[in-house]
Formats: sequence, structure tokens, C-alpha cells
Amino acid sequence: MHSNKIIEAIKERRSIFKFKDEEVSKDSVDTILEAGRWAPSYANLQPWKFVVIRDKEIQDQLCKIAEKITIFREGLEEAPVVIAVASNQDKDPSHFVEAGAVATQNMALAAHSLGLSSYWIGLFDIDKEKKSAEKEAKEVLDLPEDYRLISLLPVGKADHERTSERDELEEMVIRK
Ligand SMILES: Cc1cc2nc3c(=O)[nH]c(=O)nc-3n(C[C@H](O)[C@H](O)[C@H](O)COP(=O)(O)O)c2cc1C
Repeated sequence: MHSNKIIEAIKERRSIFKFKDEEVSKDSVDTILEAGRWAPSYANLQPWKFVVIRDKEIQDQLCKIAEKITIFREGLEEAPVVIAVASNQDKDPSHFVEAGAVATQNMALAAHSLGLSSYWIGLFDIDKEKKSAEKEAKEVLDLPEDYRLISLLPVGKADHERTSERDELEEMVIRK
């Protein structure tokens, strides 16, 4: 198999849940956002809003909401910056989720390429079973009604190491 910087970044990125108390520069955040902007989207509709959060009070409120539906991870509380990815369901009713997901992953990879780490917090409530967490987080972030919250991405310098595994490739592949 081939390898190059992109393949390496894809394979080496890990979800990181604890961050050092070190700033992330505006330049780094803008580079990460730019990677989100260049994600593909259905018919190039680009239905995104990226919310950049550097406010501990807002982070605390998001923590309290996220705790209700996911394992508590201090990363959301302590990350120097959190990026929320929202996607406009009126603009792209059939593919707004995928658009938000692919932008999120682009940003996670961009962060990794800059020596930063992140993890994806999935508040998106596909069938309204997540105890209104998405709705509450949208209110905290003042997101308009037609936007859905696809992910929260705390970003910072990793303060721990993680490994994760994947199933064997051939278990995932059907070759015709
Ligand atoms: C759609 C989606 C939602 C996720 N939601 C959460 C979450 O709410 N909390 C969390 O700790 N990790 C969450 N994760 C991160 C996964 O747990 C993680 O990607 C997976 O365990 C594989 O680990 P790795 O990213 O380090 O390879 C989410 C990932 C995805 C793609």
C-alpha cells in the first residue's frame, strides 16, 4: 500500500480527550476552519456555520448538556477552543448531515496536521431521542432554527496519548 502525508494523517489522528493549558492561535483556528470550508457538499451548497468558542462559560454550559448524552470528557471543559459545526437543513434537506460530517472530519485532520488534537462530540439528534441536547446546545450557541448542530470539536494540544484499532480491511470490503 502507498503512504504519504495525507494517508499518514488519516491513520495517525486519534480522538484526544484531555488538553494542555496552551493557547491555540487564531492562525491555527483559521487554518482548521479553512479545511472545513473546502469540504465537499451536495451540489456545492456549503450549508455550514462554524462557531468558534473561546468562552469558558459557554464551554461549561455545553459540558452540562453533553454530559447528559455522552461520557464526561474533560476536553470540552478545558480545550482552549471548541468549534461547533452546524448545517442548514433548509438549504440542503437531503444531505445536510453528511455535509456537516465531512467538514468536521476535514477539520479534525487539519488540526492533527498542525500538531493539535480534537475529538468529535456528536450532539446531532437524528430521531429526537437525545434528551433535547442538540436543541439546548443550539440555544446556548444562538443558532438559528434552520441550522442543525452536527458536532462539537474541542481542539488543543494533547495531554495524553490514545490508540484505537480498526477491524480488518477485508471484513469491510466487498469486491465484485
Ligand atoms: C459521529 C461521531 C460521534 C462521536 N461522538 C462522540 C461523543 O459524543 N463522545 C466521545 O467521547 N467521542 C465521540 N466520538 C469519537 C469516537 O468515540 C472515536 O472516533 C472512536 O472511538 C474511534 O477513536 P479514534 O477517533 O481515536 O480513532 C464520535 C465520533 C463520531 C464519528
